[in-house]
Amino acid sequence: METTDAFAGLECTDCGGTFDADEATHRCPECGGILDPTYDYDVISLDRETLSSRPFDSMWRYEELLPFRRESAVTMDEGATPLVECPALADELGVERVVIKDEGRNPTGTFKDRGQSVAVTAASQHDATDVALASAGNAGQAAAAYAGRADLESHVFLPARSSHTTKAMVNVHGGDMTVVGGRIGEAVEAYEDALAEHDDWYPLQTFVTPYRHEGKKTMLYELIEQLEWETPDAVVYPTGGGVGLVGMHKGATEWRELGLIDELPAMYAAQASGCAPIVEAFEAGRDVHEPVEYPDTICGGLEIPDPGASPQVLEALRESDGGAVATDDDDVLEAAIAVAKGEGLEMAPSAAAAASGAWELAERGEFDGDETVVILNTGTGNKQADVLRSHLMGKGI
Ligand SMILES: Cc1ncc(COP(=O)(O)O)c(C=O)c1O
Ligand SMILES: [Zn+2]
Repeated sequence: METTDAFAGLECTDCGGTFDADEATHRCPECGGILDPTYDYDVISLDRETLSSRPFDSMWRYEELLPFRRESAVTMDEGATPLVECPALADELGVERVVIKDEGRNPTGTFKDRGQSVAVTAASQHDATDVALASAGNAGQAAAAYAGRADLESHVFLPARSSHTTKAMVNVHGGDMTVVGGRIGEAVEAYEDALAEHDDWYPLQTFVTPYRHEGKKTMLYELIEQLEWETPDAVVYPTGGGVGLVGMHKGATEWRELGLIDELPAMYAAQASGCAPIVEAFEAGRDVHEPVEYPDTICGGLEIPDPGASPQVLEALRESDGGAVATDDDDVLEAAIAVAKGEGLEMAPSAAAAASGAWELAERGEFDGDETVVILNTGTGNKQADVLRSHLMGKGI
């Protein structure tokens, strides 16, 4: 494997075992726990000036803090997305500043590209021929795109309710697609059955590969630089499995360790009321979620009833002094439409849960008037224009 100088290997978040990344490719060989990439921070010399002098051209500009070298990465220059000022929203929320990190400007229209860039690079370095995952839609599309670029076969399992665009684009990228009746749980079952029959398939499932949350931590690096090194008061993230939230919190911890920032931004998990296991566990003071028996939300990416990394997500919320909030589908769609109308930005329904969540947090008095709030727009609205438009239809518009 061609790794970066500081990349030290993988550490199990459960048993603490450490493993060579050449040999351990997915879950912990000892206990089956989640593996997390680790680095020798002493050999990384990064300061604000060095970073600021680099072109803002791709998430791979943080190569020292990623496992693989930019020159060997499977990349389409994902990341380096804009941080857009939203003055109308700031007025609504009664805070000094609201900015939206617009992940819709990624190659396949969502933040999933960051995770897949690193995970498919790892697959390629491990000499995989085939990659596989189950997804609500966006991750499957991203995986098919990056696998195609790396000349790997991709096997994507999607629930019937994933958006038309993601299904169409898995085909367009040359992926082998299986559409499963039911929801994400059924798609995961079909994927696991298929995996049991194909032991040469390389899983790209979240927190099964150690590399998807690793790619997503770059969202945090970027937004701090874009805020000219100001640590925001709150980062509101639309949470399903919590991959991006765990990644961003890790990124903040690393930058504090490197002396690039002093404080951790408060991370907030925004979920849809119809599937909010993280919010429930946070409010109950528990360290792990209880699975939601009947999940039901229009936010497909957030309909994750049994998020395996909930202990990591809950720890990130508590360690950063953040919080958790759930809003109804109707409020989520209203927020997507308000942002599109007032700020011009197009948010996917799943992403808009972060906007409606921020609204709700503001109403609860969670923010002070002088605060800076970052909202993650994890995916572009035009991938699900039909869902947004039909909400207007329901209102007679
Ligand atoms: C647009 C969008 N936002 C948010 C999420 C949830 O991401 P995470 O698993 O990091 O919580 C997804 C996942 O599918 C998504 O597609
Ligand atoms: Zn372990």
